[in-house]
Amino acid sequence: MLDSADRPLVKAEIERRVAELGPWFHDLDLHGVRTAPDHFLWRYPENKFKRFRHVIPEDLSGKSVLDIGCNAGFYSFEMKRRGAERVLGIDHDERYLAQARFAASVLGVRDVEFRRGEVWDVGALGERFDLVIFMGVLYHLRHPLLALDLIHEHVARDLLLYQSLQAGTDGMFQPDRDYDFFDGKKEFDRPEWPRMHFIEQRYAGDPTNWWVPNEACSAGMLRSAGFTIIEHPEPEVFLCRRSDQGSRGAVYPAKGTAA
Ligand SMILES: C[S@@+](CC[C@H](N)C(=O)[O-])C[C@H]1O[C@@H](n2cnc3c(N)ncnc32)[C@H](O)[C@@H]1O
Repeated sequence: MLDSADRPLVKAEIERRVAELGPWFHDLDLHGVRTAPDHFLWRYPENKFKRFRHVIPEDLSGKSVLDIGCNAGFYSFEMKRRGAERVLGIDHDERYLAQARFAASVLGVRDVEFRRGEVWDVGALGERFDLVIFMGVLYHLRHPLLALDLIHEHVARDLLLYQSLQAGTDGMFQPDRDYDFFDGKKEFDRPEWPRMHFIEQRYAGDPTNWWVPNEACSAGMLRSAGFTIIEHPEPEVFLCRRSDQGSRGAVYPAKGTAA
């Protein structure tokens, strides 16, 4: 990064700006300056990414990427490193966007756009993307399925990379086509039943945490919204391909019909 007189930004100046823009959630390495060295998940998300990076195409040349809830840009930068032609990161928090823009300038990452945006407004982007990244956002939403539906309807063209905080019993679940009104209810008590844990107050001190699904629930919601799971490298992470149908055989009540 250069200063206004085109001199390289010295480490002390990077440290000063990092402190000014903090606190950070992404622990980035900005030429030796860590942005969140005391992160409770340690080196996040760099260490997390190591566990599933192999499922994302190594070469994204010519591809477009939308990173929803981009935070300080870790995944946007990684996709740019893989050659993605267009990378757009959106987040509803200006403070994180300022971090992302600063990190991009220090790291010399060009052609990544960071823009304020709500997941609810993805339709207004008016554009589809080859890869949509939706990592660590779902459990912050009051209306998680609506978000997946909007992503499917408006911005996903091919791949969706999804991750959520999860809790409860791990394991995938294959639902029956239907359940009996009287006998079916006992199935809901099976530990592996797709389940969302509702947080009325706070979780981890964060009032924006609303819903924590188990693994089967993440998988079921993705399928239901029209995403076919093609890679599942760890319980929380799913790489999906957009399909034209949700798992009920249609993408929600067909347009123009009653529910
Ligand atoms: C836990 S962080 C995840 C950051 C990053 N995607 C990752 O996986 O490391 C959640 C991010 O989503 C953003 N976010 C939460 N709700 C959002 C919404 N409704 N629209 C856009 N961004 C949102 C937050 O500001 C935050 O940057």
